[in-house]
Amino acid sequence: MKKHNVRAIVLAAGKSSRFNRSVSKLLTPLCGRPLIYYPLQALAELGIPTTLVLGHQADAIKHAVADLGFSEVDFVIQEQQLGTGHAVASAREKFDRDYILILNGDHPLLTAELLGTMVDEHIDSGAVVSVLTAQTDNPFGYGRVVRENGTTRIVEEKECTPEQKKVQLINTGMYMVATSFLQDNINKIEKSSLTGEFYLTELIEAASRLGLPVGTPTTPFGPVRGINTLEELWELEQSKRAQLARSWMTKGVRFAYPPSTIIDIDVQIGKDSFIGAGAMITQGSVIGAGCTIGASAVIEAATLGDNVTVNPSSVINASTVGSNCTVGPFAHIRAQSVIENNVAIGNFVEIKNSNVGRETFIKHLSYLGDAQVGKSVNIGAGTITCNFNGTYHSATVIEDDAYVGTNNSLVAPLRIGKGAYTAAGSTITHDVPAEDLAVGRTRQINKTGYARVLREKYQLQQRQNEVAAVKAAETTQDEDTLALGAHTSSIPTEKAA
Ligand code: UD1
Ligand code: CA
Repeated sequence: MKKHNVRAIVLAAGKSSRFNRSVSKLLTPLCGRPLIYYPLQALAELGIPTTLVLGHQADAIKHAVADLGFSEVDFVIQEQQLGTGHAVASAREKFDRDYILILNGDHPLLTAELLGTMVDEHIDSGAVVSVLTAQTDNPFGYGRVVRENGTTRIVEEKECTPEQKKVQLINTGMYMVATSFLQDNINKIEKSSLTGEFYLTELIEAASRLGLPVGTPTTPFGPVRGINTLEELWELEQSKRAQLARSWMTKGVRFAYPPSTIIDIDVQIGKDSFIGAGAMITQGSVIGAGCTIGASAVIEAATLGDNVTVNPSSVINASTVGSNCTVGPFAHIRAQSVIENNVAIGNFVEIKNSNVGRETFIKHLSYLGDAQVGKSVNIGAGTITCNFNGTYHSATVIEDDAYVGTNNSLVAPLRIGKGAYTAAGSTITHDVPAEDLAVGRTRQINKTGYARVLREKYQLQQRQNEVAAVKAAETTQDEDTLALGAHTSSIPTEKAA
Protein backbone atom coordinates (compact mmCIF):
# COMPACT_ATOMS: atom_id res chain seq x y z
CA MET A 1 0.00 0.00 0.00
CA LYS A 2 1.15 3.53 -0.75
CA LYS A 3 1.33 6.08 2.05
CA HIS A 4 -2.14 7.58 2.41
CA ASN A 5 -4.00 9.77 4.82
CA VAL A 6 -6.45 7.09 5.90
CA ARG A 7 -8.14 5.93 9.12
CA ALA A 8 -9.88 2.61 9.61
CA ILE A 9 -13.16 2.23 11.49
CA VAL A 10 -13.94 -1.35 12.46
CA LEU A 11 -17.52 -2.16 13.44
CA ALA A 12 -17.74 -4.43 16.46
CA ALA A 13 -20.76 -3.22 18.47
CA GLY A 14 -23.34 -5.71 17.18
CA LYS A 15 -25.26 -8.16 19.33
CA SER A 16 -24.23 -11.27 17.35
CA SER A 17 -27.83 -12.49 17.57
CA ARG A 18 -27.52 -15.06 14.77
CA PHE A 19 -24.54 -16.53 16.60
CA ASN A 20 -26.90 -17.46 19.44
CA ARG A 21 -24.24 -17.54 22.17
CA SER A 22 -23.87 -15.47 25.30
CA VAL A 23 -20.41 -14.23 24.32
CA SER A 24 -20.00 -11.83 21.36
CA LYS A 25 -18.86 -13.62 18.22
CA LEU A 26 -15.99 -11.12 17.99
CA LEU A 27 -14.52 -12.67 21.16
CA THR A 28 -14.92 -16.21 19.88
CA PRO A 29 -11.64 -17.80 18.86
CA LEU A 30 -10.76 -18.94 15.35
CA CYS A 31 -7.47 -20.85 15.27
CA GLY A 32 -6.73 -19.59 18.77
CA ARG A 33 -7.37 -15.86 18.32
CA PRO A 34 -10.67 -14.00 18.78
CA LEU A 35 -12.33 -12.94 15.52
CA ILE A 36 -11.62 -9.27 16.24
CA TYR A 37 -7.88 -10.00 16.14
CA TYR A 38 -7.87 -10.57 12.40
CA PRO A 39 -8.97 -7.18 11.01
CA LEU A 40 -6.91 -5.38 13.67
CA GLN A 41 -3.82 -7.40 12.76
CA ALA A 42 -4.22 -6.68 9.03
CA LEU A 43 -4.62 -2.94 9.76
CA ALA A 44 -1.62 -2.97 12.12
CA GLU A 45 0.49 -4.55 9.36
CA LEU A 46 -0.53 -1.70 7.05
CA GLY A 47 0.11 0.91 9.75
CA ILE A 48 -3.40 2.36 9.41
CA PRO A 49 -4.65 4.13 12.57
CA THR A 50 -7.71 2.28 13.76
CA THR A 51 -10.90 3.02 15.70
CA LEU A 52 -13.08 0.23 16.98
CA VAL A 53 -16.80 0.87 17.41
CA LEU A 54 -18.01 -1.02 20.48
CA GLY A 55 -21.38 -1.51 22.17
CA HIS A 56 -22.47 -5.04 23.06
CA GLN A 57 -19.90 -6.43 25.56
CA ALA A 58 -17.70 -3.39 24.99
CA ASP A 59 -15.55 -3.86 28.09
CA ALA A 60 -14.78 -7.50 27.36
CA ILE A 61 -13.75 -6.63 23.79
CA LYS A 62 -11.60 -3.72 25.02
CA HIS A 63 -9.76 -6.08 27.39
CA ALA A 64 -9.25 -8.65 24.66
CA VAL A 65 -7.84 -5.99 22.32
CA ALA A 66 -5.43 -4.85 25.03
CA ASP A 67 -4.39 -8.46 25.77
CA LEU A 68 -3.68 -8.95 22.08
CA GLY A 69 -1.27 -6.01 22.27
CA PHE A 70 -3.10 -3.55 19.99
CA SER A 71 -2.28 -0.59 22.19
CA GLU A 72 -2.71 1.96 19.39
CA VAL A 73 -6.34 1.10 18.67
CA ASP A 74 -8.87 3.60 20.05
CA PHE A 75 -12.53 3.11 20.82
CA VAL A 76 -15.87 4.81 20.42
CA ILE A 77 -19.11 3.58 21.92
CA GLN A 78 -22.32 3.06 19.99
CA GLU A 79 -24.82 3.21 22.84
CA GLN A 80 -27.63 1.46 21.02
CA GLN A 81 -27.10 -1.00 18.21
CA LEU A 82 -29.20 0.64 15.52
CA GLY A 83 -27.35 -0.70 12.51
CA THR A 84 -24.06 -0.38 10.65
CA GLY A 85 -24.83 3.16 9.38
CA HIS A 86 -25.56 4.29 12.94
CA ALA A 87 -22.34 2.58 14.13
CA VAL A 88 -20.24 4.62 11.68
CA ALA A 89 -22.12 7.80 12.64
CA SER A 90 -21.16 7.10 16.28
CA ALA A 91 -17.50 7.36 15.24
CA ARG A 92 -17.95 10.81 13.67
CA GLU A 93 -15.33 12.41 15.92
CA LYS A 94 -12.78 10.10 14.27
CA PHE A 95 -13.35 11.32 10.70
CA ASP A 96 -9.95 13.01 10.93
CA ARG A 97 -8.17 11.77 7.77
CA ASP A 98 -8.83 12.25 4.05
CA TYR A 99 -10.19 8.74 3.66
CA ILE A 100 -12.02 6.35 5.93
CA LEU A 101 -11.67 2.60 5.50
CA ILE A 102 -14.71 0.89 7.06
CA LEU A 103 -14.63 -2.81 7.92
CA ASN A 104 -17.10 -5.14 9.55
CA GLY A 105 -15.42 -6.93 12.44
CA ASP A 106 -16.53 -10.42 11.42
CA HIS A 107 -14.31 -11.23 8.40
CA PRO A 108 -11.34 -13.13 9.83
CA LEU A 109 -9.79 -14.38 6.60
CA LEU A 110 -9.10 -10.95 5.11
CA THR A 111 -5.44 -10.04 4.61
CA ALA A 112 -3.37 -6.88 4.79
CA GLU A 113 -2.54 -7.31 1.11
CA LEU A 114 -6.20 -7.36 0.14
CA LEU A 115 -6.95 -4.22 2.17
CA GLY A 116 -3.87 -2.43 0.88
CA THR A 117 -4.91 -3.07 -2.72
CA MET A 118 -8.43 -1.88 -1.97
CA VAL A 119 -7.15 1.37 -0.45
CA ASP A 120 -4.80 2.09 -3.36
CA GLU A 121 -7.39 1.29 -6.01
CA HIS A 122 -10.02 3.46 -4.39
CA ILE A 123 -7.73 6.45 -4.16
CA ASP A 124 -6.49 6.01 -7.75
CA SER A 125 -10.07 5.67 -9.01
CA GLY A 126 -11.31 8.98 -7.64
CA ALA A 127 -14.56 7.37 -6.45
CA VAL A 128 -16.27 8.99 -3.43
CA VAL A 129 -17.17 5.59 -2.08
CA SER A 130 -16.03 2.08 -2.98
CA VAL A 131 -17.53 -1.14 -1.76
CA LEU A 132 -15.51 -4.33 -2.11
CA THR A 133 -17.66 -6.97 -3.81
CA ALA A 134 -17.35 -10.69 -4.50
CA GLN A 135 -19.06 -13.21 -6.72
CA THR A 136 -20.47 -16.34 -5.04
CA ASP A 137 -22.96 -19.05 -5.88
CA ASN A 138 -24.14 -19.01 -2.25
CA PRO A 139 -24.91 -15.33 -1.54
CA PHE A 140 -27.29 -16.18 1.33
CA GLY A 141 -27.10 -13.64 4.15
CA TYR A 142 -25.14 -11.01 2.22
CA GLY A 143 -26.31 -7.72 0.77
CA ARG A 144 -26.64 -7.98 -3.03
CA VAL A 145 -25.16 -5.44 -5.45
CA VAL A 146 -28.17 -4.35 -7.52
CA ARG A 147 -27.74 -2.21 -10.63
CA GLU A 148 -30.94 -0.67 -12.01
CA ASN A 149 -31.74 2.43 -14.05
CA GLY A 150 -28.15 3.62 -13.96
CA THR A 151 -27.86 3.44 -10.14
CA THR A 152 -25.93 1.02 -7.96
CA ARG A 153 -27.19 0.06 -4.53
CA ILE A 154 -26.92 -2.72 -1.96
CA VAL A 155 -30.06 -4.61 -1.04
CA GLU A 156 -29.98 -6.59 2.19
CA GLU A 157 -31.03 -10.25 2.09
CA LYS A 158 -34.16 -9.51 4.12
CA GLU A 159 -35.24 -6.77 1.75
CA CYS A 160 -34.54 -8.61 -1.54
CA THR A 161 -37.26 -9.46 -4.03
CA PRO A 162 -37.07 -13.08 -5.24
CA GLU A 163 -35.33 -11.77 -8.39
CA GLN A 164 -32.75 -9.80 -6.37
CA LYS A 165 -32.05 -12.87 -4.22
CA LYS A 166 -30.64 -14.54 -7.32
CA VAL A 167 -27.94 -11.87 -7.66
CA GLN A 168 -24.58 -13.46 -6.91
CA LEU A 169 -22.50 -10.30 -6.57
CA ILE A 170 -22.36 -9.50 -2.85
CA ASN A 171 -21.21 -6.71 -0.53
CA THR A 172 -18.20 -7.96 1.46
CA GLY A 173 -18.71 -5.34 4.18
CA MET A 174 -15.47 -3.44 3.39
CA TYR A 175 -15.67 0.14 2.19
CA MET A 176 -13.42 3.09 1.36
CA VAL A 177 -15.02 6.50 1.61
CA ALA A 178 -13.80 10.04 0.94
CA THR A 179 -14.18 11.71 4.33
CA SER A 180 -15.95 14.82 2.98
CA PHE A 181 -18.59 12.62 1.35
CA LEU A 182 -18.96 10.57 4.54
CA GLN A 183 -19.38 13.70 6.67
CA ASP A 184 -22.04 15.10 4.38
CA ASN A 185 -24.05 11.90 4.04
CA ILE A 186 -23.73 9.67 7.11
CA ASN A 187 -26.52 11.45 8.97
CA LYS A 188 -28.80 11.46 5.95
CA ILE A 189 -29.24 7.68 6.02
CA GLU A 190 -32.85 6.81 6.74
CA LYS A 191 -33.83 3.79 8.75
CA SER A 192 -35.17 0.73 7.02
CA SER A 193 -38.95 0.52 7.24
CA LEU A 194 -38.58 -3.27 7.52
CA THR A 195 -36.02 -3.57 10.33
CA GLY A 196 -35.75 -0.06 11.77
CA GLU A 197 -31.95 -0.20 11.30
CA PHE A 198 -29.73 2.40 9.65
CA TYR A 199 -27.84 0.58 6.90
CA LEU A 200 -24.36 1.84 6.05
CA THR A 201 -24.89 0.41 2.58
CA GLU A 202 -27.29 3.30 1.85
CA LEU A 203 -24.19 5.41 1.18
CA ILE A 204 -23.70 3.58 -2.12
CA GLU A 205 -27.13 4.47 -3.40
CA ALA A 206 -26.76 8.06 -2.14
CA ALA A 207 -23.55 8.57 -4.12
CA SER A 208 -24.98 6.85 -7.13
CA ARG A 209 -28.11 9.02 -7.15
CA LEU A 210 -25.99 12.16 -6.87
CA GLY A 211 -24.13 11.00 -9.98
CA LEU A 212 -20.87 10.70 -8.00
CA PRO A 213 -18.35 7.98 -8.90
CA VAL A 214 -18.93 4.71 -6.99
CA GLY A 215 -16.35 1.91 -7.00
CA THR A 216 -17.37 -1.77 -6.83
CA PRO A 217 -14.04 -3.61 -7.11
CA THR A 218 -14.42 -7.38 -7.04
CA THR A 219 -12.22 -9.87 -5.21
CA PRO A 220 -12.38 -13.69 -4.79
CA PHE A 221 -15.05 -14.68 -2.24
CA GLY A 222 -13.04 -17.07 0.01
CA PRO A 223 -10.89 -14.52 1.87
CA VAL A 224 -13.73 -12.03 2.37
CA ARG A 225 -16.37 -14.34 3.78
CA GLY A 226 -18.07 -13.15 6.97
CA ILE A 227 -19.25 -15.02 10.05
CA ASN A 228 -22.81 -14.66 11.32
CA THR A 229 -23.46 -18.21 12.55
CA LEU A 230 -21.58 -20.99 14.34
CA GLU A 231 -21.73 -22.99 11.14
CA GLU A 232 -19.92 -20.22 9.27
CA LEU A 233 -17.36 -20.04 12.08
CA TRP A 234 -16.71 -23.75 11.66
CA GLU A 235 -16.44 -23.46 7.86
CA LEU A 236 -14.02 -20.55 7.99
CA GLU A 237 -11.96 -22.17 10.73
CA GLN A 238 -11.53 -25.28 8.57
CA SER A 239 -10.39 -23.09 5.77
CA LYS A 240 -7.91 -21.19 7.97
CA ARG A 241 -6.58 -24.45 9.44
CA ALA A 242 -5.99 -25.86 5.98
CA GLN A 243 -4.19 -22.64 5.05
CA LEU A 244 -1.96 -22.90 8.15
CA ALA A 245 -1.19 -26.60 7.54
CA ARG A 246 -0.25 -25.83 3.92
CA SER A 247 2.04 -23.06 5.04
CA TRP A 248 3.78 -25.42 7.53
CA MET A 249 4.24 -27.96 4.73
CA THR A 250 6.16 -25.39 2.68
CA LYS A 251 8.45 -25.06 5.73
CA GLY A 252 9.19 -28.79 5.84
CA VAL A 253 6.62 -29.95 8.39
CA ARG A 254 4.98 -33.29 7.50
CA PHE A 255 1.45 -34.22 8.57
CA ALA A 256 -0.17 -37.65 8.93
CA TYR A 257 -3.64 -36.26 8.24
CA PRO A 258 -3.91 -32.46 8.18
CA PRO A 259 -7.73 -32.20 8.43
CA SER A 260 -7.57 -33.87 11.86
CA THR A 261 -4.94 -31.61 13.39
CA ILE A 262 -5.58 -28.39 15.24
CA ILE A 263 -2.80 -25.84 15.13
CA ASP A 264 -3.29 -22.30 16.41
CA ILE A 265 -2.17 -19.34 14.36
CA ASP A 266 0.46 -18.32 16.95
CA VAL A 267 2.30 -21.66 17.04
CA GLN A 268 5.82 -22.28 15.69
CA ILE A 269 7.06 -25.62 14.31
CA GLY A 270 10.61 -26.45 13.22
CA LYS A 271 11.64 -28.09 9.95
CA ASP A 272 11.55 -31.90 9.66
CA SER A 273 8.95 -32.21 12.38
CA PHE A 274 6.07 -34.64 11.99
CA ILE A 275 2.54 -34.07 13.26
CA GLY A 276 0.39 -37.17 13.87
CA ALA A 277 -3.33 -37.53 13.31
CA GLY A 278 -5.53 -35.66 15.75
CA ALA A 279 -2.66 -33.75 17.39
CA MET A 280 -3.48 -30.34 18.89
CA ILE A 281 -0.79 -27.68 19.15
CA THR A 282 -2.18 -24.51 20.66
CA GLN A 283 -1.70 -21.31 22.71
CA GLY A 284 1.59 -20.14 21.28
CA SER A 285 3.41 -23.44 21.63
CA VAL A 286 6.85 -23.71 20.07
CA ILE A 287 7.97 -27.05 18.59
CA GLY A 288 11.62 -27.43 17.64
CA ALA A 289 13.09 -29.05 14.52
CA GLY A 290 12.87 -32.79 13.90
CA CYS A 291 10.17 -33.40 16.52
CA THR A 292 7.51 -36.10 16.33
CA ILE A 293 4.16 -35.20 17.80
CA GLY A 294 2.20 -38.44 18.10
CA ALA A 295 -1.44 -39.09 17.35
CA SER A 296 -3.87 -37.25 19.64
CA ALA A 297 -1.09 -35.52 21.56
CA VAL A 298 -2.06 -32.16 23.06
CA ILE A 299 0.61 -29.46 23.32
CA GLU A 300 -0.72 -26.29 24.99
CA ALA A 301 1.36 -23.19 25.71
CA ALA A 302 4.46 -25.42 25.76
CA THR A 303 7.96 -25.14 24.35
CA LEU A 304 9.74 -28.21 22.96
CA GLY A 305 13.39 -28.33 21.90
CA ASP A 306 14.69 -30.20 18.85
CA ASN A 307 14.19 -33.93 18.19
CA VAL A 308 11.59 -34.38 20.89
CA THR A 309 9.27 -37.38 20.53
CA VAL A 310 5.88 -36.95 22.10
CA ASN A 311 4.21 -40.34 21.87
CA PRO A 312 0.45 -40.65 21.29
CA SER A 313 -2.15 -39.32 23.71
CA SER A 314 0.27 -37.31 25.83
CA VAL A 315 -0.55 -33.84 27.16
CA ILE A 316 2.03 -31.12 27.71
CA ASN A 317 0.68 -27.94 29.24
CA ALA A 318 2.50 -24.67 30.01
CA SER A 319 5.86 -26.43 30.32
CA THR A 320 9.25 -26.64 28.65
CA VAL A 321 10.76 -29.87 27.32
CA GLY A 322 14.42 -29.90 26.23
CA SER A 323 15.92 -31.43 23.10
CA ASN A 324 16.09 -35.19 22.49
CA CYS A 325 13.49 -36.03 25.12
CA THR A 326 10.84 -38.69 24.76
CA VAL A 327 7.44 -38.30 26.38
CA GLY A 328 4.60 -40.80 26.74
CA PRO A 329 2.53 -42.46 25.44
CA PHE A 330 -0.14 -41.30 27.90
CA ALA A 331 2.10 -38.91 29.81
CA HIS A 332 1.01 -35.59 31.33
CA ILE A 333 3.45 -32.74 31.94
CA ARG A 334 1.93 -29.60 33.42
CA ALA A 335 2.08 -26.41 35.47
CA GLN A 336 5.35 -24.77 34.48
CA SER A 337 7.48 -27.91 34.60
CA VAL A 338 10.92 -27.76 33.05
CA ILE A 339 12.36 -30.93 31.53
CA GLU A 340 15.99 -30.63 30.48
CA ASN A 341 17.65 -32.34 27.48
CA ASN A 342 17.78 -36.13 26.91
CA VAL A 343 15.14 -37.03 29.48
CA ALA A 344 12.90 -40.08 29.04
CA ILE A 345 9.40 -39.76 30.42
CA GLY A 346 7.46 -42.94 29.80
CA ASN A 347 3.89 -44.14 29.84
CA PHE A 348 1.42 -43.06 32.50
CA VAL A 349 3.81 -40.57 34.06
CA GLU A 350 2.45 -37.29 35.44
CA ILE A 351 4.76 -34.40 36.21
CA LYS A 352 3.51 -31.23 37.88
CA ASN A 353 5.39 -28.05 38.74
CA SER A 354 8.72 -29.88 38.69
CA ASN A 355 12.18 -29.56 37.21
CA VAL A 356 13.84 -32.66 35.80
CA GLY A 357 17.58 -32.60 35.06
CA ARG A 358 19.20 -33.93 31.90
CA GLU A 359 19.57 -37.67 31.19
CA THR A 360 17.06 -38.58 33.87
CA PHE A 361 14.69 -41.53 33.33
CA ILE A 362 11.12 -41.65 34.63
CA LYS A 363 9.83 -44.38 32.45
CA HIS A 364 6.69 -45.90 33.96
CA LEU A 365 3.61 -45.07 36.03
CA SER A 366 4.93 -42.27 38.26
CA TYR A 367 3.77 -38.98 39.72
CA LEU A 368 6.23 -36.20 40.46
CA GLY A 369 4.67 -33.06 41.94
CA ASP A 370 6.62 -30.04 43.25
CA ALA A 371 9.88 -31.95 42.71
CA GLN A 372 13.40 -30.85 41.84
CA VAL A 373 15.08 -33.81 40.18
CA GLY A 374 18.77 -33.63 39.28
CA LYS A 375 20.61 -35.09 36.31
CA SER A 376 21.07 -38.80 35.54
CA VAL A 377 18.50 -39.83 38.11
CA ASN A 378 16.55 -43.06 37.75
CA ILE A 379 13.01 -42.98 39.04
CA GLY A 380 11.68 -46.54 39.32
CA ALA A 381 8.26 -47.56 38.05
CA GLY A 382 5.35 -46.57 40.25
CA THR A 383 7.15 -43.87 42.24
CA ILE A 384 4.85 -41.28 43.76
CA THR A 385 5.78 -38.03 45.46
CA CYS A 386 3.39 -37.56 48.39
CA ASN A 387 3.44 -33.78 48.01
CA PHE A 388 0.08 -32.80 49.53
CA ASN A 389 -0.95 -33.31 53.15
CA GLY A 390 -4.52 -32.19 52.61
CA THR A 391 -3.66 -28.60 53.48
CA TYR A 392 -0.49 -27.55 51.68
CA HIS A 393 2.08 -28.84 49.21
CA SER A 394 5.70 -29.72 50.01
CA ALA A 395 8.75 -30.15 47.84
CA THR A 396 10.82 -33.21 47.04
CA VAL A 397 14.47 -32.82 46.04
CA ILE A 398 16.26 -35.71 44.33
CA GLU A 399 19.91 -34.93 43.68
CA ASP A 400 22.07 -35.96 40.69
CA ASP A 401 22.74 -39.67 40.05
CA ALA A 402 20.25 -40.86 42.68
CA TYR A 403 18.42 -44.14 42.12
CA VAL A 404 14.83 -44.33 43.37
CA GLY A 405 13.66 -47.94 43.45
CA THR A 406 10.41 -49.22 42.06
CA ASN A 407 7.13 -48.41 43.78
CA ASN A 408 8.41 -45.82 46.24
CA SER A 409 6.28 -43.36 48.15
CA LEU A 410 8.39 -40.24 48.68
CA VAL A 411 6.76 -38.33 51.53
CA ALA A 412 7.56 -34.63 51.15
CA PRO A 413 9.23 -32.50 52.32
CA LEU A 414 12.12 -34.75 51.44
CA ARG A 415 15.66 -34.70 50.07
CA ILE A 416 17.37 -37.70 48.50
CA GLY A 417 21.08 -36.97 48.33
CA LYS A 418 23.45 -37.27 45.40
CA GLY A 419 24.04 -40.85 44.29
CA ALA A 420 21.76 -42.30 47.01
CA TYR A 421 19.72 -45.48 46.57
CA THR A 422 16.24 -46.27 47.82
CA ALA A 423 15.04 -49.85 47.92
CA ALA A 424 12.07 -51.01 45.87
CA GLY A 425 8.74 -50.76 47.66
CA SER A 426 9.99 -48.20 50.18
CA THR A 427 8.03 -45.47 51.89
CA ILE A 428 10.68 -42.80 52.34
CA THR A 429 9.79 -40.33 55.07
CA HIS A 430 13.24 -39.02 56.07
CA ASP A 431 16.00 -37.38 54.07
CA VAL A 432 18.51 -39.80 52.56
CA PRO A 433 22.13 -38.62 52.72
CA ALA A 434 24.29 -38.77 49.59
CA GLU A 435 25.53 -42.26 48.68
CA ASP A 436 23.33 -43.96 51.35
CA LEU A 437 20.89 -46.81 50.76
CA ALA A 438 17.46 -46.25 52.30
CA VAL A 439 15.17 -49.21 52.92
CA GLY A 440 11.76 -48.11 54.06
CA ARG A 441 9.82 -51.38 54.39
CA THR A 442 9.58 -54.36 56.79
CA ARG A 443 12.18 -57.07 56.38
CA GLN A 444 11.03 -60.25 54.58
CA ILE A 445 10.94 -63.59 56.45
CA ASN A 446 10.41 -67.05 54.86
CA LYS A 447 8.55 -69.76 56.92
CA THR A 448 9.66 -73.17 55.71
CA GLY A 449 6.84 -75.39 54.36
CA TYR A 450 4.20 -73.09 55.72
CA ALA A 451 2.43 -72.73 52.32
CA ARG A 452 0.80 -76.23 52.72
CA VAL A 453 -0.39 -75.43 56.26
CA LEU A 454 -2.01 -72.26 55.02
CA ARG A 455 -3.62 -73.94 52.01
CA GLU A 456 -5.20 -76.68 54.21
CA LYS A 457 -6.43 -74.09 56.67
CA TYR A 458 -8.15 -72.11 53.87
CA GLN A 459 -9.70 -75.24 52.34
CA LEU A 460 -11.18 -76.24 55.71
CA GLN A 461 -12.55 -72.74 56.19
CA GLN A 462 -14.17 -72.85 52.77
CA ARG A 463 -15.95 -76.17 53.54
CA GLN A 464 -17.26 -74.78 56.87
CA ASN A 465 -18.59 -71.72 55.07
CA GLU A 466 -20.44 -73.89 52.55
CA VAL A 467 -22.10 -75.99 55.31
CA ALA A 468 -23.13 -72.81 57.14
CA ALA A 469 -24.67 -71.38 53.94
CA VAL A 470 -26.82 -74.52 53.37
CA LYS A 471 -28.05 -74.41 57.01
CA ALA A 472 -28.97 -70.76 56.76
CA ALA A 473 -31.01 -71.42 53.56
CA GLU A 474 -32.96 -74.26 55.24
CA THR A 475 -33.80 -72.13 58.27
CA THR A 476 -35.22 -69.32 56.10
CA GLN A 477 -37.39 -71.82 54.19
CA ASP A 478 -38.82 -73.23 57.47
CA GLU A 479 -39.68 -69.76 58.72
CA ASP A 480 -41.44 -68.95 55.42
CA THR A 481 -43.51 -72.13 55.68
CA LEU A 482 -44.57 -71.30 59.24
CA ALA A 483 -45.55 -67.82 58.28
CA LEU A 484 -47.69 -69.05 55.38
CA GLY A 485 -49.52 -71.85 57.27
CA ALA A 486 -48.50 -75.52 57.39
CA HIS A 487 -49.98 -76.77 54.11
CA THR A 488 -49.43 -73.90 51.73
CA SER A 489 -46.74 -74.01 49.10
CA SER A 490 -43.49 -72.20 49.82
CA ILE A 491 -44.21 -70.02 46.76
CA PRO A 492 -46.16 -67.06 48.14
CA THR A 493 -49.72 -66.95 46.76
CA GLU A 494 -51.68 -63.79 46.28
CA LYS A 495 -53.90 -64.68 49.25
CA ALA A 496 -50.97 -65.44 51.52
CA ALA A 497 -49.26 -62.20 50.56
C1 UD1 B 1 -23.54 -6.50 6.57
C2 UD1 B 1 -24.01 -5.66 5.37
C3 UD1 B 1 -24.23 -6.59 4.19
C4 UD1 B 1 -22.94 -7.32 3.86
C5 UD1 B 1 -22.42 -8.07 5.10
C6 UD1 B 1 -21.04 -8.60 4.84
C7 UD1 B 1 -25.25 -3.82 6.31
C8 UD1 B 1 -26.60 -3.22 6.53
N1 UD1 B 1 -25.22 -4.99 5.71
O1 UD1 B 1 -24.59 -7.40 6.89
O2 UD1 B 1 -24.64 -5.85 3.05
O3 UD1 B 1 -23.13 -8.21 2.81
O4 UD1 B 1 -22.33 -7.19 6.24
O5 UD1 B 1 -20.65 -9.41 5.91
O6 UD1 B 1 -24.27 -3.21 6.64
N2 UD1 B 1 -22.47 -3.68 13.98
C9 UD1 B 1 -22.31 -2.59 14.80
N3 UD1 B 1 -23.41 -1.91 15.22
C10 UD1 B 1 -24.67 -2.24 14.82
C11 UD1 B 1 -24.82 -3.36 13.96
C12 UD1 B 1 -23.71 -4.05 13.55
O7 UD1 B 1 -21.20 -2.23 15.18
O8 UD1 B 1 -25.62 -1.56 15.23
C13 UD1 B 1 -21.26 -4.43 13.55
C14 UD1 B 1 -21.31 -5.90 13.92
O9 UD1 B 1 -20.74 -6.14 15.18
C15 UD1 B 1 -20.51 -6.55 12.80
C16 UD1 B 1 -20.69 -5.59 11.63
O10 UD1 B 1 -21.18 -4.37 12.15
O11 UD1 B 1 -19.13 -6.65 13.10
C17 UD1 B 1 -21.67 -6.12 10.59
O12 UD1 B 1 -22.92 -6.34 11.21
P1 UD1 B 1 -23.81 -7.59 10.85
O13 UD1 B 1 -25.04 -7.52 11.63
O14 UD1 B 1 -23.00 -8.83 10.93
O15 UD1 B 1 -24.15 -7.27 9.32
P2 UD1 B 1 -24.62 -8.30 8.21
O16 UD1 B 1 -26.02 -8.64 8.43
O17 UD1 B 1 -23.64 -9.40 8.10
CA1 CA C 1 -21.91 -10.05 9.35
